Amino acid sequence: MKINGKPYRTIWPVGRDKVGIIDQTKLPHRFETLELASMQDAAHAIKAMIVRGAPLIGAAAAYGIALAMREDASDEALDRAHDVLAETRPTAINLRWALKRMCDTLRNHPRAERSKLAWAEAAKIADEDVETCRAIGEHGLKVLQDAAAKKEPGETLNVLTHCNAGWLGCVDWGTALAPIYMAYDAGIPIHVWVDETRPRNQGASLTAFELGGHGVPHTIIADNAGGLLMMQGKVDLCIVGTDRVTANGDVANKIGTYLKALAAKDNNVPFHVALPSSTIDWDMAKGSDIPIEERSPDEILKMTGRTPTGAVVTVDIAAPGSTAANPGFDVTPARLVTGFITERGVCEASKKGLKSLFPRE
Ligand code: MRU
Repeated sequence: MKINGKPYRTIWPVGRDKVGIIDQTKLPHRFETLELASMQDAAHAIKAMIVRGAPLIGAAAAYGIALAMREDASDEALDRAHDVLAETRPTAINLRWALKRMCDTLRNHPRAERSKLAWAEAAKIADEDVETCRAIGEHGLKVLQDAAAKKEPGETLNVLTHCNAGWLGCVDWGTALAPIYMAYDAGIPIHVWVDETRPRNQGASLTAFELGGHGVPHTIIADNAGGLLMMQGKVDLCIVGTDRVTANGDVANKIGTYLKALAAKDNNVPFHVALPSSTIDWDMAKGSDIPIEERSPDEILKMTGRTPTGAVVTVDIAAPGSTAANPGFDVTPARLVTGFITERGVCEASKKGLKSLFPRE
């Protein structure tokens, strides 16, 4: 995607010894890039959410292994890098998917070949993610075209999305936002309701930043407003991303997604989930088994913003002395999901549906 006309990915190799990333904790107030020089840097970037979003977490973990292999390509170092990176965040399955792929690729090769192989494999994971998300965009565009066809000619299609499942959550294009970019580029009159997505505001800070940068009309709403807008007929469909889909079709995504799915069901609003196959956990039978990340209460008790003078500050917003609980994700049962939009096409949210697109899994 482009930032001020310059094409960007969210992660890129810098020679063979560093990895470039966009510091997403500074957005939307500042656009800053950073260079990761070690596996520990990559692990910190994932844990501190300098990079976030399931597909990008996977790509960053892959480059974390490559950085480790540059320093020490022994089996012990590979195991250590795997374990440190695997501990960063528990819910997004792309992290484990990428680590397994990297280790499977490297383990059967002599030490001397591992650094070069690791850089090549991490780059393949990143390139595949871009192509996968582009394909999700194509299949999702069809879903949006069908929805637009049900409206009066020229009438705006109103889509609601939660969190950030755009190019900032992937390497490029995005998952839930890719069809929206393609619909906009195809001239479909489209408008996006953007859930602010407390407590870290991925919607207000990242999704709005992305859509604004591409010229897509959008409106930021409080997370609790979506139900009313659906009841008022102001939402034609919802599209969200996901951090893990289990074999039966249950969906883990940013906290608040489940409540959106319930409101959509109650108001007959289609609720689509866009995902790459790297986000399907074929080994986990159902959603209630998914580990839910608990993050710092400070993310609830404090808020970061920009002052009129441009300074970025964090302030307390809660009653002094109160504490907070901060589960980062929830699980939407398959029964509330209208369908999955994947790189291989669209399917129902079920074991049978997933198998119809991924029969060999
Ligand atoms: O905590 P985050 O920002 O990593 O959560 C991100 C999400 O929940 C996204 O919707 C999901 O990872 C898909 S990103 C394409």
